[in-house]
Amino acid sequence: MQEDKKKALETALGKTGDLMNMFEKTVRKNWDMEFEQPDYSRTAEMILRNLEGEDEKQEEKPAFIPPRESADIRLSLDLGGLAADCAKCTRCRLASTRTKTVFGDGCIARPDVLVVGEGPGETEDKTGLPFVGRAGELLTKMLSSISLYRESNCYITNTVKCRPPENRDPLPDEKQACGLYVRQQIALIRPKAILCLGRGASCMLTGQEDCSMAQLRGRFFFYDGSIPMICTYHPAAVLRNTDLKRPVWEDLKKLARFLNLGIAGERK
Ligand code: URA
Repeated sequence: MQEDKKKALETALGKTGDLMNMFEKTVRKNWDMEFEQPDYSRTAEMILRNLEGEDEKQEEKPAFIPPRESADIRLSLDLGGLAADCAKCTRCRLASTRTKTVFGDGCIARPDVLVVGEGPGETEDKTGLPFVGRAGELLTKMLSSISLYRESNCYITNTVKCRPPENRDPLPDEKQACGLYVRQQIALIRPKAILCLGRGASCMLTGQEDCSMAQLRGRFFFYDGSIPMICTYHPAAVLRNTDLKRPVWEDLKKLARFLNLGIAGERK
């Protein structure tokens, strides 16, 4: 990899970061806010690898920037307001069968990772909290094995915020209607990386609609061209098929190494 190219890209990413911070200070009218400037050298390295095709898998499908939806509603510029909008949302049929909306849970101050699952199940619908059923227990274990905890450095949400009846997959128009919430959550929370669980979330956020999980997992994408994002199998799929444990563990370790997080059983 050419060092001068990497340096130039790093500088460009830094400038984009400065612009994003200025924008954020302006919309929040809070000039006292201080933002930590992320380390862009790894991001630059990864973009260049993708471009130069050092990794065969990455060469097959280059990182993709999902198209932005044209917003037909005004989105709140703060997370509390967005959660309140979501609680009243009637943008799709799922509103009529939900008990509670499941907006998201965890650390909202620039967490290491924002996790996106598919949609709430029965327990989530009752409690209003994401991933608190059986799949949630497994997810908590998976995340803690790479030092991620919703109490401190991780935020968890779903592609749709209302439970699909009988736990069916969310339909395309439901994901479309709800997609602007998750996109705004990402914009406001500004995670250092995103972890997509399962095909629904992975296709939605990578924009690669016709890919299987085997094609999507295990490599980095860049959400909106800037936030590193990795996809893996959904914990509910792992509960059904324990052969998926190994690839999930490989994907989690890849994410942990990228973020320099401690990995269970390995010295840091
Ligand atoms: N619980 C959630 O909150 N999301 C899922 O995708 C599955 C279970």
